[in-house]
Amino acid sequence: MSEHAGKTVFITGGTSGINLGIAKGFASEGAKVAVIGRDPQRAANAEAEIKAVCTGDGDAMGFSCDVREYDAVEAALKKVADAYGSIDVLIAGAAGNFYAPLLGMSANAFRTVVDIDLFGTFNAFRASYPYLTKPGASLIAISAGQADRASAMQAHACAAKAGVNQLTKVCAVEWGPAGVRANIISPGGIADTVGVKFLSKDPARFEEAIQRIPGKRLGTVDEIADAAKFLSSDAARYINGQVIYVDGGLYAGDASVDCLNPPPREKKA
Ligand code: HXC
Repeated sequence: MSEHAGKTVFITGGTSGINLGIAKGFASEGAKVAVIGRDPQRAANAEAEIKAVCTGDGDAMGFSCDVREYDAVEAALKKVADAYGSIDVLIAGAAGNFYAPLLGMSANAFRTVVDIDLFGTFNAFRASYPYLTKPGASLIAISAGQADRASAMQAHACAAKAGVNQLTKVCAVEWGPAGVRANIISPGGIADTVGVKFLSKDPARFEEAIQRIPGKRLGTVDEIADAAKFLSSDAARYINGQVIYVDGGLYAGDASVDCLNPPPREKKA
């Protein structure tokens, strides 16, 4: 039996994409998984999708909640803890994004992404504390390469995700003594997600992006779910305050030069 069987897992933004994949990953190992997202229909669909892969006493609930509203997030956490028991795993995955240059971004546009990504993570983490399993809870923020790399058209996401990383590390420091760990997953390009769909609209740019990845391919949603399960497992019990890059090696460096088949060395004349 998986060590995640019977755990309570709460995932913001868990009604689609990477976060839905994480939800299914835990449910398939018998966890009780709650996902929240803004769209009620999507939440209902996600609940059904997760239930379809549940094993053992696994269960799922999906409901509508905007991570920008602290009281709503607090109420959602209470509802889940009342139904399933204290929260063992909290994934803060809700994110918003669009491509725009600084000069094409109003203050409200900038604030909107910071609100969803950074305040959304703060709201979930801060409100969860009374409902966490202590000791033992695992908090995970889903970040992005923008936290480390200044990326054109991404001022809002760069600022927000850098904040998410630091906020999570502060959680690790402040709540570590209570037996709560907080880590960050920084996914690279993941197949079948909104970010990759946008990039793949330009095939030449897309192929260049793949060639930069040392692993020479996109990641999968299951690979992010595996990382989340690992970070929430006993094997990771001494890992706290870390950024785990699940990106095929892209953060380490650019692999577009073929060093395994180098051109012959030029002889000195
Ligand atoms: C410039 C834009 C814009 C655009 C919206 N705005 N889109 N400005 N270029 N393309 C501006 C609006 O004009 C408005 O400012 C402000 O942003 C808020 O827009 P709303 O539509 O009112 O906000 P809201 O309905 O809350 O929608 C949030 C959103 C939206 C983030 C703007 O795109 C959204 O909900 N997206 C769905 C979720 C999503 O993006 N998922 C992808 C996550 S992937 P004004 O001044 O006009 O009022 C991800 C990966 C991270 O995050 C890193 C990899 C890329």
